[in-house]
Amino acid sequence: MPETEKTASPLVEVKDLVKHFPIRGGVFLKEIASVKAVDGVSLSIHEGETLGLVGESGCGKTTLGRLILRLEEPTAGEIYFQGENILTYRPSRMRALRREMQIVFQDPFSSLNPRKTVAEIVGEPLRVHGIGSRREREERVLNLLEVVGMRRESLRRYPHQFSGGQRQRIGVARALALNPKLIICDEAVSALDVSIQAQVINLLQDLQGEFGLTYLFISHDLSVVEHVSNRVAVMYLGKIVEIAASDDLYTTPLHPYTQALLSASPIPDPTTRRQRILLKGDVPSPIDPPSGCRFHTRCLYARELCSRDEPRRRRQGYQRNKAHPEPLPSPRCMAGLRDFVREPATRQGLTLCYQ
Ligand SMILES: Nc1ncnc2c1ncn2[C@@H]1O[C@H](COP(=O)(O)OP(=O)(O)OP(=O)(O)O)[C@@H](O)[C@H]1O
Ligand code: SF4
Ligand SMILES: [Mg+2]
Repeated sequence: MPETEKTASPLVEVKDLVKHFPIRGGVFLKEIASVKAVDGVSLSIHEGETLGLVGESGCGKTTLGRLILRLEEPTAGEIYFQGENILTYRPSRMRALRREMQIVFQDPFSSLNPRKTVAEIVGEPLRVHGIGSRREREERVLNLLEVVGMRRESLRRYPHQFSGGQRQRIGVARALALNPKLIICDEAVSALDVSIQAQVINLLQDLQGEFGLTYLFISHDLSVVEHVSNRVAVMYLGKIVEIAASDDLYTTPLHPYTQALLSASPIPDPTTRRQRILLKGDVPSPIDPPSGCRFHTRCLYARELCSRDEPRRRRQGYQRNKAHPEPLPSPRCMAGLRDFVREPATRQGLTLCYQ
């Protein structure tokens, strides 16, 4: 669903979310610096949609997911779930809310306790939340295993006795145990072979249809994200640089970082070629991110003003005065203009303005 077609109340909304991890040093372990893992993120996730989240390693995807679940406490910002600011919730209320939001991790082997049987693992959330009798819980576990396509013989077996794909199904069954509304899939299929990956993705999509689930789908695999997502957010050094409907983003990436990421991603159609855009240098340190547009140290189109000014500010200026927009640094950079540049005609006009 495009940003501009928001429903009244999204399932999740985060505003200006910040997470700085302190780095301590010296004899008194004083804070000497901080890792700006998430640095002013605002976005919403609508009920029943899949929002993809992509970006290079270390850009803050997992931290953002963990913040939404309140597995990390933010340094600043607001998090709304079903319209309520969950940062004001006390621990007991937060515990109850945890039933509504679950996470599926990349590595099911390390996230499943090797000493517990599948029955214990999948039934654990039910036990922790005191749901049902022992017998009822066992029935629910059997039902969940059926939902994720596992046999009932699996009940008494241990994680090491399964393949990677089966282990991920067990992880999904556990995540479903409490009938959640939101599931954060953090690189949930990244460790699997391509064919198994497809099976788990199909399973996630079927479950979404059946139970009306909402997903935040974190991955560095752009093809998988394009396939599963209604909208996609692109993250760079703790910030969302572009967010749009999946079709719009993949056909017309506006931010040069998105353009570069997509240019490195293979296209299924062998007759189509993309021009590869090579990014300069490494991702800068999140301890001391570049000023202005954070991407300016690697951007092919960077101009002097990019190190002073953030694209978002320019967009505000742009919207105030559409007839005589402020200059963009380059015709190739339309960073921050996604909401305005949705219609192809406008897009064309806009590009011409800067050529
Ligand atoms: N608990 C922590 N303490 C200090 N720094 C942290 C902590 N957790 C994450 N970071 C740092 O925050 C930044 C973002 O990390 P995060 O795990 O969110 O990135 P990511 O986008 O999920 O990366 P990947 O694609 O490799 O999983 C990184 O620089 C990481 O080193
Ligand atoms: S041209 Fe400037 S503002 Fe646009 S992405 Fe590049 S560095 Fe950022
Ligand atoms: Mg991660």
